[in-house]
Amino acid sequence: MTSPDPTARQMDLLLPDTRPMREELEAGAMLLRAFAKPCDAEYLQALEHVARQAPFRHMHTPGGGTMSAAMTSCGTLGWVSSLQGYTYTTLDPASQQAWPTIPPSLLSLAQAAAQTAGYAHFIPNACLLNRYQNGSHMGLHQDRDEHDTTQPIVSLSLGRSGIFLWGGPDRRSKVRTLMLEHGDVLVWGGPARLHYHGIKGLGPHAHPLTGWTRFNITFRHVVAPPTPAPQT
Ligand code: SIN
Ligand code: FE2
Repeated sequence: MTSPDPTARQMDLLLPDTRPMREELEAGAMLLRAFAKPCDAEYLQALEHVARQAPFRHMHTPGGGTMSAAMTSCGTLGWVSSLQGYTYTTLDPASQQAWPTIPPSLLSLAQAAAQTAGYAHFIPNACLLNRYQNGSHMGLHQDRDEHDTTQPIVSLSLGRSGIFLWGGPDRRSKVRTLMLEHGDVLVWGGPARLHYHGIKGLGPHAHPLTGWTRFNITFRHVVAPPTPAPQT
């Protein structure tokens, strides 16, 4: 692969953004373009604050592999993948400490985005942070470990663009590919809450704030009974 050209991205930034600011992907799913851009630096600082307490790590998959995206969590519950399966835990298995709390700036952003997309009273108690670098991807999956479909998923993209796969209720449903850019917030709930989605790869340009790294933060409401932190 030829190395992407950061100056091309700089030039992109000079062009007017002609994408629609709000796009309903389908009933229940709304893409809020650049929603988080006005306070982007604050959100990245909040992310770094979380990662200082609970560092990003590449978790094992139940099948014995390793996730190509590095992850960490904040909130009352954190999502954990291990040889024992997927679960939410109250303690970070790496430190046996509680997960960091959700930074107020990120919580407000998530609630404002949910409200804008038609989901009032969104109360996330789990927040998964993903860090993607060259070669990272995430296969098509459903977010179903929350055992709650009454509240949406709110997904914030920061830094380098991500090539997002948006499917449907079945693994074999038609998949749409869309670029998630820095500051975009995607909200899916209601009839779209269990839709398949994933990340095929990353965009070709570095981002001025994060370089070749993409971050994604998903806010969730979990009702699943928490399990003890598994051994990693
Ligand atoms: C996820 O499905 O947990 C992450 C999606 C993304 O990185 O945009
Ligand atoms: Fe997901």
